[in-house]
Amino acid sequence: QTGYVTLDKGYKNTGATQSAITFLDGEEGILRYRGYSIEDLADKASFLEVAYLLIYGELPTQQQYAEFEDSIRRHTMVNEDMRKIFEGFPNNAHPMGVLSSLVSALSAFYPDSYDEKAPDQTQMHIIRLLAKLPTIATWSFKKSQGHPVNYPKNQLDYCSNFLHMMFALPVEDYQVDPVVSSALNKLLILHADHEQNCSTSTVRLVGSSRANIYSSISAGINALWGPLHGGANQEVIEMLEEIKANGGDVAKYVEMAKNAKTTGFRLFGFGHRVYKNFDPRARIIKKAADDVLSKLGVNDPVLEIAKGLEEAALHDEYFVSRKLYPNVDFYSGIIYRALGIPTNMFTVMFAIGRLPGWIAQFVEMRTQKEPIGRPRQIYTGATLREFKAIGDR
Ligand code: SDX
Repeated sequence: QTGYVTLDKGYKNTGATQSAITFLDGEEGILRYRGYSIEDLADKASFLEVAYLLIYGELPTQQQYAEFEDSIRRHTMVNEDMRKIFEGFPNNAHPMGVLSSLVSALSAFYPDSYDEKAPDQTQMHIIRLLAKLPTIATWSFKKSQGHPVNYPKNQLDYCSNFLHMMFALPVEDYQVDPVVSSALNKLLILHADHEQNCSTSTVRLVGSSRANIYSSISAGINALWGPLHGGANQEVIEMLEEIKANGGDVAKYVEMAKNAKTTGFRLFGFGHRVYKNFDPRARIIKKAADDVLSKLGVNDPVLEIAKGLEEAALHDEYFVSRKLYPNVDFYSGIIYRALGIPTNMFTVMFAIGRLPGWIAQFVEMRTQKEPIGRPRQIYTGATLREFKAIGDR
């Protein structure tokens, strides 16, 4: 500590703001959105109800929900010129890179979003983001398959529309299986907000300079992509597949993780900055994984490997002493895969779920008129030096 600056790398002990949106208790493993428990919401609500709750602070009435859902439904199409930007990506472009680029590009189609003198259209931009993200997200998958993209269908609900755009083909319609759409609904709810995590703090920091909402959300998508954050759900499945390919010996991987300093290996899907107990979302997703896979008649050996890995880690001093438990990313990929969603789309699913949380936090930051974010530092560089002409160096 020098003078008035306290160094707090990773902001482990710094409160960046006051927020009324999401409550976490890391010791007890509690998560609530606007006071409602995640267990209740995951079981009883629709994803759009939770989006409404996070953004506007209350669960919607029947009337409010119908208007919200209808206005989203009427904005699911994307300006056809966006397709030209999209066509420029190579087929193997990672969907997260495509998503953040196209969300940022949306600001070009709605210039009032960055025109300080234009009347405030934030409500419209909220609807556009919620409506268009799923449409844009499915484009990457279709292109990677060499298939034509699908247009949204107004008669479908939010989750069914996403599944339709992902899996429908010109040669055959796609029948949405209610087991699949309700599993997706639950997963999106569980990812919807998580107070001041890395990507949400990014959205707030970028938005605090009065950058437009599309650029701020795009920045959040990029932060989420990192393997230590939302990208972990893709890493988990790749790790579990590797363990399976190596004969399923979880003990070896637990040992490798314990020697992270030399092996550089981490058990993806384990550990959390705040939860020093079970991540309540992981509990719900683990249970849902058994339920969904058996309902779909899917037998995925990596589910047993995941459970074996969890069992081994939770009985190992290294993990117990560091309070490393499975987090939201540990089991989610197993369900996504059972729904037919490919691994490189897992973090995109996280982004679709987290979008209402990012929006709610962006709006709260603006409503509370938060100052521009600008942390200080402890300077450790050179003291004053005389400049030398290049010939004298
Ligand atoms: C998400 O913040 C959020 O809320 C995020 C999130 C959300 O909803 O927004 O919950 C979503 O990002 C979940 C986390 C997904 N990431 C992973 O699963 C990647 C693996 N996990 C780790 O990288 C780590 O646990 C973090 C990034 C999640 C948390 O990192 P911290 O809080 O900075 O903890 P740390 O790295 O300081 O670890 C403390 C100790 C270290 O050992 P020592 O230096 O004390 O000897 O625990 C060890 C770490 O080496 N450790 C692990 C480990 N995670 C931490 N060792 C092995 N395997 C792991 N997974």
